[in-house]
Amino acid sequence: MVQKFDEKTFPYSFEELEKTAADNVSPEAFDYIQSGSSTEQTLRSNVQAFSKYAFKPRVCVGAKTNDSGVTLFGRSYPYPILFAPIGNQKVVHPEGELASARAATRLQVPYIASTVSSHTIEEIADASGDGERWFQLYATKDQEVTYSLLKRAENAGYTAIVLTVDMASSWRIKDMSNRFLPFSRGQKPYPSIVSDPVFQEKYGAAVTEKGLEPTIRSIFPNPQFSWEDLAELKKVTKLPVIVKGILDEEDALKAIEHGADGLVVSNHGGRMIDGCIPSIEALPSIAEVVNKCIPIFLDSGIRSAKDIFIALALGADAVLLGRPFIYGLAVAGEEGVYKVFANHFEEFRRMMVLCGTNTIEDIKKLKIVELN
Ligand SMILES: Cc1cc2nc3c(=O)[nH]c(=O)nc-3n(C[C@H](O)[C@H](O)[C@H](O)COP(=O)(O)O)c2cc1C
Repeated sequence: MVQKFDEKTFPYSFEELEKTAADNVSPEAFDYIQSGSSTEQTLRSNVQAFSKYAFKPRVCVGAKTNDSGVTLFGRSYPYPILFAPIGNQKVVHPEGELASARAATRLQVPYIASTVSSHTIEEIADASGDGERWFQLYATKDQEVTYSLLKRAENAGYTAIVLTVDMASSWRIKDMSNRFLPFSRGQKPYPSIVSDPVFQEKYGAAVTEKGLEPTIRSIFPNPQFSWEDLAELKKVTKLPVIVKGILDEEDALKAIEHGADGLVVSNHGGRMIDGCIPSIEALPSIAEVVNKCIPIFLDSGIRSAKDIFIALALGADAVLLGRPFIYGLAVAGEEGVYKVFANHFEEFRRMMVLCGTNTIEDIKKLKIVELN
């Protein structure tokens, strides 16, 4: 099913990449990675909203060097382009997250491993080797299980926590029609939770009695999570905690008040709430109230270098690539993920030269106009 990576035929445009990914996996798996919630209005508007904005490039700056590097939480990265956390990656490639984590290490980009990855926290850490990795945490209803996942991530060398707060449940019609849900079709979902020693000790008997699915569903997802829980969680880890799923400026301030070290302005790629604001439109007012006190990341709809420029000029410090890299995984495994990032890096680098921007700070200073 999975094509061999071929430098000459690897797709460059997002549309081509998406189509090639669709040709490489089953229709149900493709729907799972591509689709959005309900009418998919948010899925579409995430991308369309970028075309509302344009920036004014600068000329004759006498550029001698281009420095695309960015420093986040005291560490330097080659580009302000990181991985979005994506779970269940075995759906599109047998090596799943292990392939993506290996590509991240080669790219010198931190790999953000999802709680609902198709490999455990420790297996992904092994694949990432001496590369940097962050752990995306979903808080379960059982604080002891949540903290156990967190500790395992710390012990396995993850250096930041991305706490996703915008997931309670979804209404993805294509997945429901296809009956392609985490527990369907013999998949073994949530291996990090299932392998967790605290989960096993507290819920082992329930799993035997009622089965795994209802037991996991009794603690996950957790719509009860509150800002007070964030403050508690901050007390049990020394790692920076980046809160993902912020769209409202008051929530941004609440997150900071309760200890967030970074924010991801995101609507989960339109997979959770249909009808909500596109991430890029939520960014300017959030950047204004945050006022540079903590880093802001943006995801949902990043498809090319111009989107990244717009996000930086509207106040983001870095962006997360989501569907593009998972399509790369579907097309050509580790090499596909590597190539998708390498393409974005190179297009971004060339844009920097074209736009008279020597540094990321120069990009942030570009004037943005709203088109009618
Ligand atoms: C197939 C798929 C699975 C995802 N799984 C997770 C996840 O486990 N945790 C999480 O925080 N976000 C998850 N996301 C959301 C991404 O982190 C990111 O917010 C989204 O992909 C951005 O939208 P875009 O891919 O359209 O740019 C997932 C997204 C996709 C497409």
